[in-house]
Amino acid sequence: MHKYRTHNLNELSKKDVGSKVKLSGWVHRRRDHGGLIFIDLRDRDGFTQIVFDPDVAKQALEIAETVRPEFVLTVEGEVRARPDGMVNKNIATGEIEVIVNSVEILNKSQTPPFEIDQDKEINEDLRLKYRYLDLRKERIQQNIMFRHKVMMAIREYFDKHDFTEVETPILIKGTPEGSREYLVPSRLHAGKFYVLPQSPQQLKQLLMVAGFDKYFQIARCFRDEDQRGDRQPEFTQFEIEMSFPEQEDILNVIENLFLEITPKLVPHKKLLYTPFRRLTWQEAMENYGSDKPDLRFEMQLIDISEDVKDSGFSVFADAVKKGGCVKALRVEGGGEFTRKEIDELTELAKTYKAKGLAYIMLEKDELRSPIVKFLGDDLAQKIIKKVGAKVGDIVFFGADKFKIACESLGQVRLAVAAKLGLQDKDVLAYAWVYNFPMFEEGEDGKLAAMHHPFTRPLDEDIALLDTEPIKARAVAYDVILNGNELGGGSVRIHERELQSKIFELMGISKKDAEHRFGHMLEAFTFGAPPHGGLACGLDRFVMLLRDEPNIREVIAFPKNQSAQDLMLGAPSEMPAEQVAEANVKIIK
Ligand code: AMO
Ligand code: AMP
Repeated sequence: MHKYRTHNLNELSKKDVGSKVKLSGWVHRRRDHGGLIFIDLRDRDGFTQIVFDPDVAKQALEIAETVRPEFVLTVEGEVRARPDGMVNKNIATGEIEVIVNSVEILNKSQTPPFEIDQDKEINEDLRLKYRYLDLRKERIQQNIMFRHKVMMAIREYFDKHDFTEVETPILIKGTPEGSREYLVPSRLHAGKFYVLPQSPQQLKQLLMVAGFDKYFQIARCFRDEDQRGDRQPEFTQFEIEMSFPEQEDILNVIENLFLEITPKLVPHKKLLYTPFRRLTWQEAMENYGSDKPDLRFEMQLIDISEDVKDSGFSVFADAVKKGGCVKALRVEGGGEFTRKEIDELTELAKTYKAKGLAYIMLEKDELRSPIVKFLGDDLAQKIIKKVGAKVGDIVFFGADKFKIACESLGQVRLAVAAKLGLQDKDVLAYAWVYNFPMFEEGEDGKLAAMHHPFTRPLDEDIALLDTEPIKARAVAYDVILNGNELGGGSVRIHERELQSKIFELMGISKKDAEHRFGHMLEAFTFGAPPHGGLACGLDRFVMLLRDEPNIREVIAFPKNQSAQDLMLGAPSEMPAEQVAEANVKIIK
């Protein structure tokens, strides 16, 4: 017989009754029934109930009396059917149990810092410090195994469609993709640094210059940014680059990937848009107040700028006169909201830079609103009619610059949807948002690339680069899912002159561009083909399919909210000689 096990702990069933078996695993739960001891033995695959009976093996029972949760045992025994009434339909092995002849404790366990057999709320830092114990829990272990399935499905799909996976280096040179980068000091080259890639962006473009035609990679990326639920300093992308593509080719490859693998991975979830819905960036902002709208429900923003531009409510009229807009959001059934809820929504809007959140509540006999007295009854009624509001509804308003009015009301839209339960977790609303602007204006007034500086302008907007670059649109697109940005990409610039011009518009001097991206500019002079691609966040995808609230739940060893690995204790101080060897001086 095998030294440790003849079966995994999900394997035995009624047909094995009478067989002699050897099992190994962790003590999940122990129940002492005066003389008889029952233990649920656990491994990755499941549970098997083992029974210690003094009439069968007295010595084994004595040992069983000493075991505690998370001890590791090997037992030898015989499979028997559970008595009627003791069958457990919830587990695969629920019809049998193993009556133990002998037991060996392979390893003891201290009392774990939290219970493995219960799904209680536990302080996250404690979970992360003992991540190897946290990972013993079924939910997290299932997440990680599910993630493996996702990666397998992705690899299989790309292989089938003639994409080659190429590993790109982790120690590279700085890239201008917008995030702060992690630096690695060089030992051999004093005062110089490697940079960890924010993404393989430049390398995958260079692979197109090299003629690889269709590349993919499941790639590690590193970004030293503020942490959020959907962000980690170290994360994984599945990403592609293609040569001679039209935008449509790239969208098709990715859309078909999701359409093919999603139903296999989560058959219980319903795809709302097949093919994916498509919105221009302008439409997404105008109608949903977001470049990644949650499209599981409609509740669109409605523009009422024209209706109110000459009204007596100066907040609205002035916003329009200054070139901004006024948007309305009708919330069906929102007439139930309390004063406190409206105040909370107002605060939310303000965190997105709105100056307030005007509203009209449609009660049975009257309108309750702080602004009807300024608008006048006629105009109020006209607006109510335009947005289709009825008794029992509330209409919210945002008046500001386009971006602020839309985004703040877009956030109200999401908060209200959460309150009203409109975000069905079993519905998946995939969509494309495309024609993003090339640039956004930074706080310093400088133009910054909205996607990244290798992104190509729409052909018809190239002329705008000389006149009004802020209005130029890009061949850039995001794939979104239930209000999350799942991925983004673009068709790239492959001409040296155009690329230089974009750097210039962004205020990167010729010399600086040469120093930082000379290799790209030079590569473009050696017959670079037209190319483009896209990258999706693997962690986010797995998080959404598993209904997890943040990506730490689907990463085996994540960093905490302060970018620390509490289990390993990283980052950590290093011995002085090692620091010196890396040519680094600690100044604090
Ligand atoms: P982008 O920066 O949009 O594009 O990243 C692509 C996708 O990666 C995921 N993502 C993250 N996931 C977890 N933690 C993070 N800190 C994090 N940052 C990004 C998101 C995002 O949509 N090189 C380009 C792609 C291209 O143009 O081909 C890029 O990296 O899901
Ligand atoms: P006030 O006259 O300042 O009391 O504002 C009347 C209502 O309009 C309040 O409910 C404010 O929250 C709201 N409000 C003020 N400024 C704006 C704005 N820019 N957009 C939307 N609502 C606003």
